[in-house]
Formats: sequence, structure tokens, C-alpha cells
Amino acid sequence: MTLHGVGASTGDLDARAVHWIRERLAGTGAGVAGDKATLERALAGAITDGGLGLDGAWRMFADVAAPANIGLDSDRFLAFIPTSPSVASVWMDAIVGTANFSAESWLEAAGAIAAENQVLELLARTAGMPSSAGGCFMSGGSIGNLSALAVAREQAGSRRVVVVADTAHASVRSALHLLGMQPLVVPTGADSRLTGAAIRRAVAGRTDIAAIVASAGSTNAGVIDDLAGCADVAAELDAWLHVDGAYGLAAMLLPELRDRFAGIERVDSFIVDPHKWLFAPVGSCALVYRRPELASAVHTQHGPYIDSIRTADDVFNPSDLGYQLTRRASGLPIWFALALHGVEAHRAAIRAGLRLAEAMADALEVCPDTELLMRPELSVVLFRRHGWVADDWRVWSADLLQRGTAFVAPTTHRGEPVGRLVFMHPLTPMSIVDELLASLTARG
Ligand SMILES: Cc1ncc(COP(=O)(O)O)c(C=O)c1O
Repeated sequence: MTLHGVGASTGDLDARAVHWIRERLAGTGAGVAGDKATLERALAGAITDGGLGLDGAWRMFADVAAPANIGLDSDRFLAFIPTSPSVASVWMDAIVGTANFSAESWLEAAGAIAAENQVLELLARTAGMPSSAGGCFMSGGSIGNLSALAVAREQAGSRRVVVVADTAHASVRSALHLLGMQPLVVPTGADSRLTGAAIRRAVAGRTDIAAIVASAGSTNAGVIDDLAGCADVAAELDAWLHVDGAYGLAAMLLPELRDRFAGIERVDSFIVDPHKWLFAPVGSCALVYRRPELASAVHTQHGPYIDSIRTADDVFNPSDLGYQLTRRASGLPIWFALALHGVEAHRAAIRAGLRLAEAMADALEVCPDTELLMRPELSVVLFRRHGWVADDWRVWSADLLQRGTAFVAPTTHRGEPVGRLVFMHPLTPMSIVDELLASLTARG
């Protein structure tokens, strides 16, 4: 019985795995919310001293663990922030897992890192950053925000207060807590946008502002903050400006939308999650700094065995730029998909989500039972259903999931329970607009 090498006793696992991946890539439904007790019972005895053998272990995975999940990658997943990895990126992700490129350092993974850097350059160039900008890929937006804010703190001397909008993603507040920094929460107005004017009012007379965090696509409403206004105030305060574009900043690749991100060229750091709107599998965040050398001064890890990975002065190891040492080459899947299909194909896929959001908004606007809260700026649609309270939204989303129509999650807007739909999967059929509308009008 061997674990490794060509003699490993895994039977036809490779064929099963390839078959499973192909089936998944052909499409998956909204999935199910698994029941804890049922799952624990069904998985009992999976790990034994002697092993179950291929049939037994595969059954545990394919018949028990795999089906009891929501399909985040389903074209009917319209909650939270969905993911819709391209076929090319999924296969490359499987290769990345197989090769284990040790993508923390040039010494170990120059080829993988050089390829990843092309994606970071594309994003930095599109943002209008100088050619000296640089960054790294990390595991996700939360760790990207944390890494950038750690650099902001280092630049701030004794200042520890960070301006955040009331719409900022939870990971920003969490990062500030970990870093011992305090949020100064600035309320957004009716349009849910953080503006330079609102920040100026909130910080008047203060000398302790270390940084401003703006969103390029807030999670709940998909709103892009006034990045140019934020940049003006950041300059006045000599504060770091970080933009959390985990969800929405990928849309700056669309020339017709670029103006909405005006000011992004002036920020100190930003993140974009390819596993959100750049069609890569989960586990990928692009973190870009205007001056990567500042990040390197904060994040470079030192130690007797680690120092030997530093072989040249003219390159940054990815692990020098973010809070992660051993690192999957999580930028390779999106790099490969871009290399294979080109940027334009990715733009077209983003446009598909925008079109769906527009169509849904149009339908909700004319329906007498519903009211649109705001026109979607990106691909999030927020709306009221007249007469519905929190329980109605819960029943609605449970119903939709049970019927396999869609996975939607209730949310609130300024404390009021409202409907929220996020369209990012390019294969979501336009007919879903009518299906959802019917579900909203069927009940009183
Ligand atoms: C705007 C924004 N920032 C940060 C995050 C956190 O990203 P991750 O879940 O990849 O850690 C999210 C997640 O949805 C997000 O929407």
C-alpha cells in the first residue's frame, strides 16, 4: 500500500476525478444546505486506521460530502458574492494544486510568479498606476485588505484611525481590529456612496487619521465610492488610501465603465479578487501597491532558513508583499484563462452580469409589487417587496432554493429587510428574471 508515485494504490481515481470535474464544469444547480446531524452520521467512520479503499472513500466524497453544498459556482447562485470560474481556470487550478509551485519566492517559483505578475501589471496599468507599481496574489480579499492596511499603519507613525464607510466590507473592520487600529465610520448618503465631502466633514480638526478605505463595489449594494474625492482628502491628510475592489474593481477593465472608477489611479493600494468577477476558482486575490517597497519593509519575513530565498535586489518575492509565506500560485488560473481567451472574452463575461442586473432592475421597477432601491451601478440589485417583512424574505429564499430556482440570501438596507440579487455568472439565463419576478408576486 503506497501513497506516492506511480505505484500509489488509488485505482482509477484519476479517471473518476476527471469525470467529476467535467460534470461539474458542465453546470451545477443551486445545491442544498446540508443538515449537520445527517452529515455527521453519514460521514461517521470515514477515517479509519486501515482506510476505506477507493470505492468507500469515493462514495463518502461523491455521495455524501459533495452533494451537501450550495453551488457557489452555479448560474443560479445569486447571493453574497458568487463565483463562476471559467473552464480554463479550473483546469489550471487543478494543475497548480498538483505542481505545488512554491509561489512565495522567485527562487522557488520564478516562472509561476512571472506569469502572475503579468496579471498584476494588467490591473495596475488599467488602474493607471505607475510602472513601478507591483503586488502579489493572496488567498482572498480579507487577507488582501489586512496586508494592505498593515502597510498603511506602518506609514502612519502614531496615527491609528482609519476612515471607513458604513458600507465597508466586514473584513476591513476585522483587519483594523487585528492591527490595533480604530475605524472612524462615515455614514453614506441616500446613494450609499462614500464621498470626499462626507469624509472631510467627519475628519475636520483631526490629526490622527492614518488611512481611508473606499470600496470599488460595496458588497451589499454594489456601489463604487467617490474614489477621486477620497484621494483628494487622503492627500490633504497625508493618509494612505486603500481601495477594496474585491468584488467590483474587475469592471474597470471595461472601457465604458472606466470613468466610474476615476481616482483609482491615485490610490496607494487596491485589491481585486479574481475568484469574484474575473472568473477564477476560489482562493485568489490580486493585491497591488503603488510603492511595493513599502510593503516589503513590512511583510518580509526573516529567519535563518528564510533569508536564503532572497536572491536578488531587483525582485519582490510575493511573500514580501503580503501576510502569507507558503503560497499557492493563485494567480496562475486567471493568468492562463487570460492567456488562452484574451481580456476581451473576460470583459464580455462581465458584461453578461451587468445586462442581467439591468434587466432585473427594469422588471422590478415596473412591477407594482416591488420597488427598486437604486439603479444597479454594477451587478447587485437591491429592492423592496411591498408588504414583506424579514420572515417573508426568509421564506422566499428557502422556497427558491428548495425548488432549485436560485440561491438568494436575505439582506438589510439601512436596517430594513430587503431583497438582494447578484448577477455574475455569464451563463445565468435571462429567463431567470421572469422566474424571480413570478416568485415575488405569487405570494401576498
Ligand atoms: C468588497 C469585499 N471585500 C472583501 C471581501 C472578502 O473577500 P474574501 O471572502 O475573498 O476574503 C469581500 C467578500 O465578499 C467583498 O465583497
